[in-house]
Amino acid sequence: MLTKAQEDLFTFTEEDMAAAAARYATPCFVYSLDLARSRWRMLRQALPGRVRLAYAVKSNPGAPLLETFAAEGAWFDCASAGEISAVLAAGGTGSGMVVAGPAKTHRDLQAALYAGARVQVDGIEDVERLQELHTGEAPLRVSVRVHPASGVSESASIIGGAGPSAFGVDEEDLGAFLAAARHHDRVAVTGLQVFSASNELDPGRLLANHRTALRIGQAMHEEHGIELELVDVGGGLGIRYAASEPSLDIWALGAGMGRLLEEHPWFTGELLLEPGRWLSGPCGVYLTRVVRVKQSRGVRFAMLEGGINHLLRPLLTGQSFPVTAPGRSGELTAYTLAGPLCTSLDRLGTGELPVDLQGGDVVAFGQTGAYASTQAMSHFLSHPEPAQHWLC
Ligand SMILES: Cc1ncc(COP(=O)(O)O)c(C=O)c1O
Repeated sequence: MLTKAQEDLFTFTEEDMAAAAARYATPCFVYSLDLARSRWRMLRQALPGRVRLAYAVKSNPGAPLLETFAAEGAWFDCASAGEISAVLAAGGTGSGMVVAGPAKTHRDLQAALYAGARVQVDGIEDVERLQELHTGEAPLRVSVRVHPASGVSESASIIGGAGPSAFGVDEEDLGAFLAAARHHDRVAVTGLQVFSASNELDPGRLLANHRTALRIGQAMHEEHGIELELVDVGGGLGIRYAASEPSLDIWALGAGMGRLLEEHPWFTGELLLEPGRWLSGPCGVYLTRVVRVKQSRGVRFAMLEGGINHLLRPLLTGQSFPVTAPGRSGELTAYTLAGPLCTSLDRLGTGELPVDLQGGDVVAFGQTGAYASTQAMSHFLSHPEPAQHWLC
């Protein structure tokens, strides 16, 4: 039985999740495209007009989701040739696409150029390769990704924190990078990307990151004479994984972004926000059945059909997805959630489930529309991949 505080951690009501588990073979993912559309519209409404919105495809590249966002006029943040083709197939356009990645392959760069996307360069090597590959008349307009020296919100395990980074040009090396880039007449740096947050629930901390981006942009403008047309502040908008967590106030975020634009009159271009998780995460649930329940030395295990082959994130971040047993009421107790894989790594964290949980019962994991089906070890131990069902 879900409490009021837990309700928005799950896309569907308990009755609908129980009905979906009866209708579809488990394990499976079930998504709501209606919710994706309404979250897109709500976020769009909360942001000033000068903030463009690109969906970060990596959070969930499902074709129906990409089609839903493309129909809303979304831009897309892609990180591989595969993501670029998925977006084009879904009706997105190259002119509304940014392509990022710390080690872009030749194929990625060619796909980006072919699509007409804006490439975010991560170093002078990217510029050198684009100088060779670009055949258009006018110089190719690119953005440079900068790794700030300080003022970064942490999330070190995902994004890299303030220390050494695989991403971008270190801020202290930006002057040298820009000087070197000027020797490449077929490439023009007209954009900036700074992104250092992940799953952030505090709008103030996201805005601090955005402020850092504009500070770096101002230096590019004043010291290097660059008219920036795009300042990309990445994604990182967080969602609740537990009933005790607050929701991110997107209205405060939008108002803060508006104020930042006013504080930087030198900047006449657009800000780009690239959320993935906030848009797709709440739109999906993962349904699986209990195979058996076991007690071991005082710990109660719920052994499930699916594990890190379907949901790897809890193992990577130490944070469980919210879990419930749809349609079941009664006393709850703590379980360690384990999957079917022959490795003690196969843990989905912990959760409160009914004391009398049994083999065959359904459990649902909420907030699994993002970084779930795509961020899993689906081939490990050769279990079938879970089906994905897209509801309107
Ligand atoms: C360049 C870039 N943009 C956007 C995102 C999306 O982040 P989130 O899903 O946290 O909003 C990521 C995530 O890693 C990223 O690397």
